[in-house]
Formats: sequence, structure tokens, C-alpha cells
Amino acid sequence: MDHFYIERAKEFVGKEVTLRGWLYNKRDSGRVKFLLLRDGTGIMQAVMVKGEVGDALFDGFDALTQESSLMVSGKVREEKRSPGGYELSIKGIEVVQLSHDYPITPKEHGVGFLMDHRHLWLRSKRQHAIMRIRAEIIQACQDYLNGNGFTLIDAPIFTPSACEGTTTLFGVDYFGRKAYLTQSGQLYNEAAAMAFGKVYCFGPSFRAEKAKTRRHLTEFWQVEPEMAYAGLNETIEVCQDLLLFILRRVLERRREELERLERDVGFLERIKPPFPRISYDQALKIIKEEGEELQWGEDFGAPQETALSQRFDTPFFVHRYPTQCKAFYMKRDEKDPRLALCVDGLAPEGYGEIIGGGEREDDLQVLKQRIKEYDLPEEDFQWYLDLRRFGSVSHSGFGLGIERTVAWICKLSHVREAIPFPRMLDRIKP
Ligand code: 4AD
Ligand code: MG
Repeated sequence: MDHFYIERAKEFVGKEVTLRGWLYNKRDSGRVKFLLLRDGTGIMQAVMVKGEVGDALFDGFDALTQESSLMVSGKVREEKRSPGGYELSIKGIEVVQLSHDYPITPKEHGVGFLMDHRHLWLRSKRQHAIMRIRAEIIQACQDYLNGNGFTLIDAPIFTPSACEGTTTLFGVDYFGRKAYLTQSGQLYNEAAAMAFGKVYCFGPSFRAEKAKTRRHLTEFWQVEPEMAYAGLNETIEVCQDLLLFILRRVLERRREELERLERDVGFLERIKPPFPRISYDQALKIIKEEGEELQWGEDFGAPQETALSQRFDTPFFVHRYPTQCKAFYMKRDEKDPRLALCVDGLAPEGYGEIIGGGEREDDLQVLKQRIKEYDLPEEDFQWYLDLRRFGSVSHSGFGLGIERTVAWICKLSHVREAIPFPRMLDRIKP
């Protein structure tokens, strides 16, 4: 017979099974004893009644401690009052290991304490729900892109040069030479797009962000699609399609987890295309109406993004930022060369940027000029310039930040809960 898993309890009604899991919590009403067991796929209540099981088994209940590993056998029953709708009538318990003084108790703990115990905290209901939604979002990205003609081409993690500015590079010693952890797979994606047309990479990005905000990690994950023969508008269309695909998938497969997080599911269900598209200038106007200060030419910071995105109840796009606040590779708008043909995708409800992308400069001479203006060493970019020497075409793409997307969909107050083991300015443990 198949192994029993709590999330498949429905298929086992009336059958004898062995639940292999851990003790989440327990309850005792004298004659009836309840174990709340978790097995990684869910939580299930197991019950024993005095007189219906042997005394040794019944009395053994008191010795069972939180997070002990147990193999509990019994019969699966439908039980409306039980969490999840099914219950296990206990026939036997095999203790695999007794756990002593589990540090995370049902009482309230501070975030610092919980983060120090992240390796254990992941077992809690709430963290479990978030991680399952994260996994679903990642799979949705892959399914959407694989199903729409994009080929996965992995980008390297060790890189010789910057992609997103030299101030946030993490340097490493590479056999006596200086190398960096990648900030984005984009430059390699551009090479791949010229070889495969539509591509994406998926992996970790590293940024030495000194920022202590609820949006910043030093290690985060991005999915980055890139398309040859495509401009800014096609990129915005793909961003919108991908976001809708992710939302529908999570609503379809992870509704229970969203409800466990007390996410307003109706809010997510009401999100319909097309998502609003506004220019940087229009966004700046809204930011000022909201009472936030910002000079034309500056990038939005956390307070401005919060103010702006509170005005929306669907994701929305801000396009054509001033070139001075964006990366060297961005193509300029022919109609107004002060502007870059770029786009940010922002989540509503105060969350702000979750996507960054746009059209890439495809002219060799212009790109060389930008590399100079941004004070980057041209020799490191010779391979990248080759893409403009040999069959250069317009191309564009974007990066969707996984943690920020998870944080918004789950409505978390901080991205640190959106990744299994967060890395931040003040945290590299556990
Ligand atoms: O806007 P960014 O910097 O864009 C790029 O890296 C492009 N090269 C991507 C591309 O066009 N292929 O980063 C993209 C996304 C952001 O919108 C955000 O969601 C996430 O990555 N991100 C971070 N997430 C958590 N912590 C940080 N420090 C992040 N920095 C960026
Ligand atoms: Mg950005």
C-alpha cells in the first residue's frame, strides 16, 4: 500500500494506516486524549478513548512531548469537527525519539528568538503555509515559462563584473583573482536569448544591501525571462501574464494555506487584467499628492513605493524612469532620451516593487559609451559587447523577485519570512 500522508487522508477513510510524523500539540479531557500530529503535508488529530485501547497505550500519553517523532497507527475516519475534516483512531504508538525541552512553545516568542531558531521555526503551521506557497509560486513561474516557449538556461553565480551597480557587490577571492557573487543573471540571459530566442534563468542573487527595510535581503531568488526581438511592451505583457498565472495557481492549489495565513483571498480573486500602466512622471505626481518628497530623477525609496502602491488594488506598472537612476544597460527612449525604456512591476497594498526590467541597449557604440559613463571596466564587458557585434537585435526582459512576490501574496510584514533561511545585513545564522 501507498504510504499514508495527511494531505491524502480522504483516500484512506476506513483504512488502517501508519502516520509517520511529529507531535505538534496534545489535549487531554480525562477519558479522551488527543494528539495533534504533523507529517510535513499537514496536521491531523489522533484520538484514543479510555477502555477502547490498552491501558499501557492510554497512560503512555503523558510522557509524549512536543516535537517527539512518532509512528502512530490507527484507522482514518471522517470527522467534521476535527481540523482538516479527518481523524485517526489510535491503535498503537511507536516512539521514534522523545524530544526534550523544545524551545518553541505555544506561547508568544519575539521575532529575534524565532529567527535564531529558524531551523525549528519552519515546523510551525504559519511558516509551513508560507513555504508551501513559495514552492507553488516557483513552480508556477517554471510552468508558465516552460509552457510558453522559454528555455531554461542557467546563469553563473561567480561573475567577473557588476550587473546592477558596483556598490552592492559581494566580492570573493577566486584563486587569487577578484570575483563577485551574481547580482542578476541578466547579462548571461542576453547571450542566451541570442542563441535560443526566449530564455529564462532562475536562481539566487546577491546584493550587499546596507538597507534595513522589510523589502531587502542580501540573498534572494529571481526568475528572469529574456526575449530576442522584443520591446518594452511585450515585456510588460509577459509580466502581466506571469503574475496572473501565479495568482490563479496559488488560489487554485494553496487556498488552504492562504486561509491559514488569514490572507484576504477575495482580494486576490478580484485582481483582473489589464493592470494599470503609468509613467514615472505620473507616479511622481501621485507620490507628491501622498505627501512624500522626491526630486525628478531620483529612484523611489521605500516610503515612496509604499505611498504609491497603497493607491492600487491590483499590481501595476511604472515605466520610463529617468536614466540616471537606472542601470547602464538600459536602452533610452528615442522620444525623450532622458528616459530609459524600463519598467517596474509593483504590488498593491503598500508592497511596492516586485519586478524590474525593460529593453536593453543594442547599439555597440552607445553601449560602449554607457559603460564609460558608469565608470565600468570595458575589458570585463567584451563578451557582452560581442552580442552587439554579431547579429544585435532589440531585446528585453525582467526579473521577478520571489521573496517579494511571496511576501505580497501571503501579506507578510517582512520578506525575512518569505525565504527558508534569510540572509540580511545583521543575520547569517542559522
Ligand atoms: O530591479 P532589479 O535590481 O533588476 C534586475 O536585477 C534586473 N537585472 C532583472 C532583469 O531584468 N533580468 O531586481 C529585480 C527584482 C526586484 O524587482 C525585486 O523583486 C528583487 O529582484 N530584488 C530583491 N528582493 C529582495 N531583496 C533585495 N535586496 C532585492 N533586490 C532586488
Ligand atoms: Mg529594481
